[in-house]
Amino acid sequence: MTIENCSIIELPRFFDPRGNLSFAENNAQVPFVIKRTYWIYDVPGGEDRGGHAFKENQEVVIALSGAFDVVVDDGVHQKKFELNRSYYGLYIPAGLWRTMENFSTNSFALEFGSVKYSAEDYIRDYDEFLKLKKDGKI
Ligand code: TYD
Repeated sequence: MTIENCSIIELPRFFDPRGNLSFAENNAQVPFVIKRTYWIYDVPGGEDRGGHAFKENQEVVIALSGAFDVVVDDGVHQKKFELNRSYYGLYIPAGLWRTMENFSTNSFALEFGSVKYSAEDYIRDYDEFLKLKKDGKI
């Protein structure tokens, strides 16, 4: 996988004077079956999250509130996605190093994952990530 396999997914929007609505469904807007969802909130100024890669887990990340950047890295190239709308999701396939940074005050990151939480699915060492990438193992 390379950073070119990441994509911004535009979610449906129902505009309504009572407030707008968006949604995401399995194997539709989200290109996998969601096995897990989690969210990141109350991030203190200047803190980063998620400096790691997944071996299997695919993700869709949405800035439900506020703004933050997701930097994806395939071992050769990096790309920064600035998420700041609740109707855009960033799809990240497995096998990419990704970091979340530059969180605005009161930002709220929602993540959908394609596998249940497993500590073994994480690659937390960047040099190990580069080696696995070089050897074609991820
Ligand atoms: P982690 O994924 O390491 O956070 P970050 O996005 O900053 O890399 O998760 C932090 C902790 O939360 C970790 O100890 C494991 C736990 N956790 C779960 O138990 N289930 C989950 O689905 C996730 C994402 C994390």
